[in-house]
Amino acid sequence: MWPTAELHVHIEGTLDADLIRELADRNGLPVPAGAGRGAPFRDLQDFLDVYYANLDVLRTRRDFQDLGARYLARAAAAGVRHAEIFVDPQSHTERGVPVEDVLLGLSAALADARAAHGMSGGLIVCFLRHLGPDAAMATLEAVLPHRSLLLAVGLDSSEVGFPPSLFRDVFERAAAEGLRRVAHAGEEGGPDYVWEALDILGAERIDHGNRALEDVELVAHLRETRTPLTVCPLSNLALRTAGPDLADHPLAVMLDEGLRASVHSDDPAYFGGYLDDNVRALVAAGTVTEDQVGVLAANAVASSFLPDAGKAALL
Ligand code: ADE
Ligand code: ZN
Repeated sequence: MWPTAELHVHIEGTLDADLIRELADRNGLPVPAGAGRGAPFRDLQDFLDVYYANLDVLRTRRDFQDLGARYLARAAAAGVRHAEIFVDPQSHTERGVPVEDVLLGLSAALADARAAHGMSGGLIVCFLRHLGPDAAMATLEAVLPHRSLLLAVGLDSSEVGFPPSLFRDVFERAAAEGLRRVAHAGEEGGPDYVWEALDILGAERIDHGNRALEDVELVAHLRETRTPLTVCPLSNLALRTAGPDLADHPLAVMLDEGLRASVHSDDPAYFGGYLDDNVRALVAAGTVTEDQVGVLAANAVASSFLPDAGKAALL
């Protein structure tokens, strides 16, 4: 595999059935009914219901460190040299898990991965759209004491009905704190959600962005501004936001249009594969050529929040 950067992985989406059972056992909890459930899902919400129910087994700082360590070891094997990891603190704090246990456990895993695998990385705190803007602001305030552990803020969970514009104030405040900004948009929501993420939230990357292709002006804007799209093909098939054939995935059009798209894994425990599996599946389906695999890896590195010297070291 080409050396690359993972920019779109939800750490809770790496919680596989084996680790769910192990953590349930360790914490004296029942194994959630959804353990082991995978693709296909009816839609994003059908998946999210399982995802939130399963993550209930994550209780302690050690649980988060173990989750992070397992993901990072698997990512290293996929050629990932730098990982910017999404975490959903609200899904844990609303169950009574202290936010510092979430952030310090994952940060410990990142520090260990630097020593064990030579990987760099950082955390992106995502706000859950379905809990609304006030809860997002409270979450930002709760994580700011750990500002040094954070790279960026993001926006995820149920998309339609929760447009980016709702979160203007919290993204503005995050930017004032020097945090970078990304947002899920155009996964199920239309091109207007992508415009809002760019214009109102100041998002520097769009997570997914598939539906941006429906708006020619937006495509031109994304091309001119070199805005990264972090694309997750197996996720799109699993959640029926693209497909049913991978050969028809919009990534081919994105590359033809000269957009800065890269391939990532989203929730690999649920969607049938890690970053390398996504790339292999795309090549097997004929969606991208072997040469484009190198372009995708270079795009991922260029789209990361690494400083220029760090990017150059990976390219
Ligand atoms: N949270 C975890 N996976 C997600 C996805 N694919 N879209 C939005 N929110 C998510
Ligand atoms: Zn995602």
